[in-house]
Amino acid sequence: MSNDSAIGIHDLSFATTEFVLPHTELAEHNGTEIGKYHVGIGQRSMSVPAADEDIVTMAAAAAAPLIARHGADLIRTVVLATESSIDQAKAAGVYVHSLLGLPSATRVVELKQACYGATAALQFAIGLVRRDPAQRVLVIASDVSKYELDSPGEATQGAAAVAMLVGADPALVRIEEPSGLFTADVMDFWRPNYREAALVDGQESIAAYLQAVEGSWKDYGEQGGRPLEEFAALCYHQPFTKMAYKAHRHLLNYCGYDPDKDAVERAIGRTTSYNTVIGNSYTASVYLGLASVLDQADDLTGRPVGFLSYGSGSVAEFFAGTVVPGYREHLRTAAHNEAVDRRRPLGYAEYRELHERSFPTDGGDHPTPSQTTGPFRLAGLSGHKRIYEKR
Ligand code: HMG
Repeated sequence: MSNDSAIGIHDLSFATTEFVLPHTELAEHNGTEIGKYHVGIGQRSMSVPAADEDIVTMAAAAAAPLIARHGADLIRTVVLATESSIDQAKAAGVYVHSLLGLPSATRVVELKQACYGATAALQFAIGLVRRDPAQRVLVIASDVSKYELDSPGEATQGAAAVAMLVGADPALVRIEEPSGLFTADVMDFWRPNYREAALVDGQESIAAYLQAVEGSWKDYGEQGGRPLEEFAALCYHQPFTKMAYKAHRHLLNYCGYDPDKDAVERAIGRTTSYNTVIGNSYTASVYLGLASVLDQADDLTGRPVGFLSYGSGSVAEFFAGTVVPGYREHLRTAAHNEAVDRRRPLGYAEYRELHERSFPTDGGDHPTPSQTTGPFRLAGLSGHKRIYEKR
């Protein structure tokens, strides 16, 4: 593990949606025993975007506090990772760049590989900062997770954006080398260009995830990574929070340890507080796990945290970060709690109406109803162009 680089996450902020659907509402509609949601998959509610919210408005809302605190002068690259892309050509980050008023001397690009994309963005950002340590890279993960109504995946929907400022001498987490890598061509979850909702083979996706945990951990060890017992916590990708528990038990078994309930709870428990109420935020999910563990009360100064980033299809990466002394002064715990608490609860019928909503494809003028109270909104579609507004 080389610590000489001291590059990592300098600041982190997240945003989520205007609305929330409690799982009790969904359970009442489909007759599911609530224990399946609360205990079986470990989810209590899901973030639901308003008609005038999307990955761009969430990304801008997540990143705006970073710009307010640090300015934009050192940012020369914006990488937005998403799998709920709004355009096949133009990068969503260009709209975010505009909404945030970033300088024109910036490169902006979009990255995709299911839920893994933001980790690629983070690693590429570290490479750019290593080349020029005076620069900072704005990495944003923003996604809306959408499955068919009344499908098994429906209860795992969610939406959020996490923005991270990556730079030298970071104030929060130093990202270490090496990384453990794993790629396998599997069809566990995918979304063809002509579909809004993802297709998934639920059990196959869980098996593929566990195989990727094993594969990336094996490579991490072969590259000279830390032993498992050194980690204070493990941030797994959380399509539903129980998946992190399954994954960690699997890793403990693979490493020849007893997957003792308390040990699993110690490693995972503090990483799930945001994901359990937000739902699957795809690329953002593993970094909501980080936000959760950092925002908890106990001091992690100097402690290594493990990350297991998984994206269906599939690509996975295991890597470590060390929490930097003084990190607590830079946390945004109150704002994060406010982002979760300010969401307005939906009834099932209102949720269904939002789920079924889509823009006409005729190129006409289609203003969106004014629903969000957030700082940015998608005002409509006109001439096939998305129109965004800053409040
Ligand atoms: P399902 O078939 O509705 O649920 O789908 P189940 O029957 O498997 O039950 C789920 C759990 O609840 C089980 O626990 C039950 O025993 C338990 P487990 O055996 O797994 O420990 N249960 C109860 N517990 C307490 N009280 C009760 C009760 N009833 C049942 N009354 C599934 C579940 C996850 C398959 C479904 O939600 C799904 O298809 N989700 C979408 C796919 C997914 O999230 N896959 C995860 C791995 S792939 C991934 O992470 C990548 C992804 O994020 C995409 C990307 O990379 O872009 C998805």
